[in-house]
Parts: sequence; C-alpha cells; structure tokens
Amino acid sequence: MTDFGHWISAERSLMESQWMTILQGTSHVRSPKSLQEAVEYAFLSGGKRVRPALALLSCSVAGGETERAIPAGVACEMVHAYSLIHDDLPCMDDDALRRGQPTVHVRFGEDLAVLAGDALQALAFEILALQDDTQLLSDQIRILAEAAGPSGMVGGQVLDMHASASETTFAEIQVIHACKTGALLTSAVLMGVAAADVSWQPWRPYAETIGALFQATDDLLDVTGSAQTLGKTPGKDAATGKATLVSVLGFEAATEYAQGLAEKAQAQLLEISAPIQDSPLYDLPRYLIQRCR
Ligand code: IPE
Ligand code: IPE
Ligand code: MG
Ligand code: MG
Ligand code: MG
Repeated sequence: MTDFGHWISAERSLMESQWMTILQGTSHVRSPKSLQEAVEYAFLSGGKRVRPALALLSCSVAGGETERAIPAGVACEMVHAYSLIHDDLPCMDDDALRRGQPTVHVRFGEDLAVLAGDALQALAFEILALQDDTQLLSDQIRILAEAAGPSGMVGGQVLDMHASASETTFAEIQVIHACKTGALLTSAVLMGVAAADVSWQPWRPYAETIGALFQATDDLLDVTGSAQTLGKTPGKDAATGKATLVSVLGFEAATEYAQGLAEKAQAQLLEISAPIQDSPLYDLPRYLIQRCR
C-alpha cells in the first residue's frame, strides 16, 4: 500500500510550482499588487493539499491521465483557501493563527482579507473555464459551484454559525459537516473522476464519507492538538461553545465514529474500483484518522 503522507510530501512542491504557472495565465497578474500578495499568501502558505490530491488520485484511479485533473485540484484548493480566510475573520471564528502563520486579516487587514477571499473564488472558476474541453469545464463548474455555494460550503458555514454546543444534535452535526466541509472535499473527487471521462455518481458515497471523516478529525484535533503541530489555535471550539462532533458525542464516541468512517471509506472505495490497493487513495482514510495537523 502506498503511504498517502509520503506521496503527498513528495508531490506538494511540484503541485505548488504548477499552480504558480497556472496563476500567471489568469487575471491575477493584472490585479493590484496588494491583492496579489494577499491571494498568494493565503493560497501558497503550506496547506496539506488534501483536496487537490483527491482530484488527482481519483482521476488516476478512475482511469484518467492525472494531468487532466490539475485545474480541478487548483480550483478546489482556491475555494478552500478562500473559505479559510473568511472562516478566520473576526466576524466568524476570529482566529489569529492559520498554518502556523498569522491569518490573512491579521497580516493584511480585514478589508483586503475579505477581498482576497472573493478573488480566490473567482479565480477558481476562471481556471476551470480556461480548459479546452467544454463538456468537462461545464461539468466541473457545476460541481464546484454547487459544492461551494448556498447548499454546500457557504450554507454549511451558516448552519455552523447558528449551532450551539448545548442545543445541537448528532444528526444536525452530520448535516453541518457534510455541507461546510464535506461538499468541497466531495467536489474534489467528483471533478477528478469527471476528468477521467467516466461517470462520477458511483464515487459520491465514498467522497461524502471522506468529507465526514475530514471534519470529524478536525473536531478531534481541536481537542488533542497543539498550536505547534496544528498550526492553528487548539481548544477554540470548546472555549467558544461551538457545536462539534465532540460536543455532541463526547471525545471517545467521536473517536470511534471517526474510526468507523475511515473503515467505511476504504470499503466504499473497494466497491467502486477493484485495482486500488496500490494507490495512495486507499491509504487516505488511515492518514486522515492519524493526522496531527
Ligand atoms: C481546515 O482544512 C478547515 C476544514 C475544512 C476542516 P484543512 O485541514 O484541509 O486545512 P489546510 O489546507 O491543510 O491548512
Ligand atoms: C471550517 O471549519 C470549515 C470551512 C472553512 C468551510 P472549522 O472552523 O472547524 O475549521 P478550522 O478548525 O478553523 O480550520
Ligand atoms: Mg468555522
Ligand atoms: Mg474555524
Ligand atoms: Mg475546526
């Protein structure tokens, strides 16, 4: 089995240099210097890059050429970077630390942070639209728009904003996680499979499980992590009374639930695709359950 952590460590800098080249072919280069700086700070400052990895690997396992999924990976990561900028704003989670560095609004001011998020979202769709294959670009634009929009990430953030630790049920948490985090991770898989020119619907259950697993471990890490390894301030969910998997289930049951999701994701992947065990994709659930950042 190929270790996902090793694979992504080897791929990350190559991915990021490809992204710089892609950015140079967009309207980003004609934007104000201060905006360029904030966009690049948010986008290129050391994320794990799980979403682009999902796009590339799903494309490859589905029988496509990995390169065809590069725009999908960049676009998804741009929407993710924008979502993090806005999530960290004082009017939302009010976080000062992200990826081990000052958050975008702390570094550049709230006004530029909001606008850098807006710019990243538009750039994501510009990059998808620059592809030659019009069927593929329209499929991917629809997948990403739905995932990012009012019934996906943005809607999930609204539900998250209204949810308090004392009043939220497990079923409600599952919906919040599926929307605020799961939708975008799912879109990475679906866009990657679309780039292999095969039907992406059979991949949806697996992709949704990965999304649920991702936010489950994010909630657990807020309890167990340190600022040093996590690169963000731990303990904030409990301190601010946020509804999380841990607030509704307790730490032990939340850990077991996450473990169950990891096993489910592997089983679902085997159902879609037989020759998978060699792909880092098969190891991803284990990586997610064991991650410390
Ligand atoms: C953090 O996402 C926010 C969530 C959606 C849970 P990641 O854990 O993928 O953050 P980076 O990109 O690696 O910093
Ligand atoms: C963030 O969830 C989800 C999105 C950014 C859409 P969290 O608020 O839990 O993410 P972190 O913990 O700040 O990374
Ligand atoms: Mg949040
Ligand atoms: Mg947050
Ligand atoms: Mg969190």
